[in-house]
Amino acid sequence: MAYTREVMDHFLNPRNSGEIEDADGIGEVGNPRCGDVMKIYIKVESGRISDIKFKTFGCAAAIATSSVATEMVKGKSLEEALKLNNRDVVSALGGLPDIKLHCSLLAEQAFKSAVFDYYKRRGP
Ligand code: FES
Repeated sequence: MAYTREVMDHFLNPRNSGEIEDADGIGEVGNPRCGDVMKIYIKVESGRISDIKFKTFGCAAAIATSSVATEMVKGKSLEEALKLNNRDVVSALGGLPDIKLHCSLLAEQAFKSAVFDYYKRRGP
């Protein structure tokens, strides 16, 4: 299976790429299999993801999944956004080649780790 049109679109025109200087939470994960790294920054207002940006040093699938995942959670409540999982990310892209499925885990893990960081900073 080749990359779908959606994957190519998000890879060539990534949404929400960049960083947020005064982020409320930052998540960073690396894929030990390939060495690719993804960083996600979030802003949270009234319990919602008011802004989100990503920086990914990785393959086309990693960049496309970061891009679509940020679109999927932006504006959502933290509770809703935490339901994000890599299967939904892959299906939003119309699928990924089997050999690239592991790349989609980075987006889910980096986002969840940014939310965890937000809760940690905020304290009990
Ligand atoms: Fe490394 Fe895709 S090959 S994330």
